Amino acid sequence: MSDLQAGNDFWAGKRVLITGHTGFKGSWLSFWLDEMGADVFGMALAPEGQPNLFDQLGHESEIDHMLGDIRDSDLVAQRVTQVQPDIVFHLAAQPLVLASYEDPMQTWQTNVMGSLHVMQACRALSKTCSKTCALVMVTTDKVYENQEDGRAYKEDASLGGYDPYSASKAAMEIAISSWRRSFMQDGPVRMASARAGNVIGGGDWAENRITPDIVRALIAGQEISVRNPGAVRPWQHVLEPLWGYITLAERLWTSDDARYQSSFNLGPDMADVRPVQDLVKAALGHWSGTWHETPDAAAPHEAGLLSLDNSRAAEVLGVTPRWGFDQTVGKTISWYHAVQTGGDAPEITRTQIREFMAP
Ligand SMILES: NC(=O)c1ccc[n+]([C@@H]2O[C@H](COP(=O)([O-])OP(=O)(O)OC[C@H]3O[C@@H](n4cnc5c(N)ncnc54)[C@H](O)[C@@H]3O)[C@@H](O)[C@H]2O)c1
Repeated sequence: MSDLQAGNDFWAGKRVLITGHTGFKGSWLSFWLDEMGADVFGMALAPEGQPNLFDQLGHESEIDHMLGDIRDSDLVAQRVTQVQPDIVFHLAAQPLVLASYEDPMQTWQTNVMGSLHVMQACRALSKTCSKTCALVMVTTDKVYENQEDGRAYKEDASLGGYDPYSASKAAMEIAISSWRRSFMQDGPVRMASARAGNVIGGGDWAENRITPDIVRALIAGQEISVRNPGAVRPWQHVLEPLWGYITLAERLWTSDDARYQSSFNLGPDMADVRPVQDLVKAALGHWSGTWHETPDAAAPHEAGLLSLDNSRAAEVLGVTPRWGFDQTVGKTISWYHAVQTGGDAPEITRTQIREFMAP
């Protein structure tokens, strides 16, 4: 066991199922939990593209890695029955707004039906085995009906969604609330949802996301092309929401306090809600290059500013942002730069987690 844990041995030997462990957040999360001594089991599709963080971290041999589609209810049930998890982190999703316009049905099948399959499988397990199971369902800040009025949304704000991705995650929230009240009252399965905003961090290689776009241009020695430099976003490092998920799971598992079986916003402080051009300029402070604006008039609708009120996570979970904007961008770009110049990705990742957890 390493020293990456928060001063206790809660995670040592815990059986943890992570759906979406081959993705960006799932790779960081499974690496972190593995380092803390958990027995990590995954279920996801194959990692996409080259490079990808899952392969960069050399994860396949470190955890119980399984490829499987969460749209297949039988397969999800088999995996949950096989793992007998203490904790489930459900991250698997079609998470991109633009891709959701291209294939809305697949987005809904994955995000809504896939989530129902996970909840049903955990519910079925609880009928045969009475041990506690904590279920953290990962949604997004985009579940709120965004009025674009500058308000910071609290957890009880109206759900909604313009694009198919946002709407599918809002539907997932309604299903979570229904399943919790209908089937999980006073039972061994304790469930919460976590709503995080835009995250950045080393190892994200998704198409059409600003940080990977910046890094791909820098690696290629090209000028960075920015579609929407004035768009304001709530930037946070990927370790911030992951720390929220980890804390939430621990609280759910150790306590039946109903406050935990609810929804939590995990977002940055207002000072870190900045325009895209601030991110680009800060990134160029760590890796030299140039940028220009290329407006795309034909782009489909993307919501404007959305802010989260993160006070409930602070009050109930004690989770508050640890890294400000400059540190967040610095850690992100330096991860890519170090790996690109021959650094060892697992070691760089381990060091950043250790720095994040340092008092
Ligand atoms: N990255 C962000 O900025 C952000 C912000 C808010 C919320 N989220 C949420 O966090 C979660 C993880 O996002 P990410 O950025 O790591 O995405 P990602 O695309 O990097 O990873 C998605 C994961 O889901 C898996 N997956 C997709 N479809 C699947 C299917 N049908 N069956 C099984 N597995 C499937 C993929 O294999 C992959 O492991 C998602 O639920 C997303 O909605 C992400």
